[in-house]
Amino acid sequence: MTKSHQLKSFFSPEEVAELKEAIYGFFNSNEPTIVPLETIAKEGRPTDKVLRQEWSGRALFVATDKIPQSISDKISKYAREHYGEDLKPDGFAFTRYSNEFGVPRLAPHYDTGHSTFTIDYQLESNTTWNLVVEDKEYSLEDNDALVFKPSYEVHWRKPMIMNDGEYVDMIFFHFHDGKQDDYGMTKEIKKQTESAYQEKYQQEFIDLHGWDYWHGNRL
Ligand SMILES: [Fe+2]
Repeated sequence: MTKSHQLKSFFSPEEVAELKEAIYGFFNSNEPTIVPLETIAKEGRPTDKVLRQEWSGRALFVATDKIPQSISDKISKYAREHYGEDLKPDGFAFTRYSNEFGVPRLAPHYDTGHSTFTIDYQLESNTTWNLVVEDKEYSLEDNDALVFKPSYEVHWRKPMIMNDGEYVDMIFFHFHDGKQDDYGMTKEIKKQTESAYQEKYQQEFIDLHGWDYWHGNRL
């Protein structure tokens, strides 16, 4: 399987402009709202709302139908050509991390979905917040992307204090290879690995923030 890696200057300036118009057009006209986990568990993430996710200090919306078709086609083609011809889009989402929505934090975890492959794209930011995938640290610039398998590789963001007015905007482009395979990563293995990594993260987080984080149920 492909190892995680960083892609530089992923979209052309024209594509970035087109993407921003579509994403911020929706984001800036919808006030983030808290949707209870039970509702999401039952009905899935709503596609007409921006969700406020205080547990991570972020706002998120399902962007699958909001990404311009040409961009969606390009990234899908890129994924197939470089990472496997069976890959099919498995949902796209936009998220902004900012103090406006809680304290930005992301503890070690596996994504709850079953996407086999993700292109984690940084659309815009005015600060740097390092990502870690299985102990390998990455520093993204705008228009860079991180390629990895969030449901199969433990990942998190280094504890950091984000100042008011700072933000990091990401688009998650998820793909699926169509196979019913857990690649040996059972629920138990994931749980054990998450706990081991979270223990270390927790200490780092407390040292920096002076309080303990919560990273419980999330969808
Ligand atoms: Fe994740």
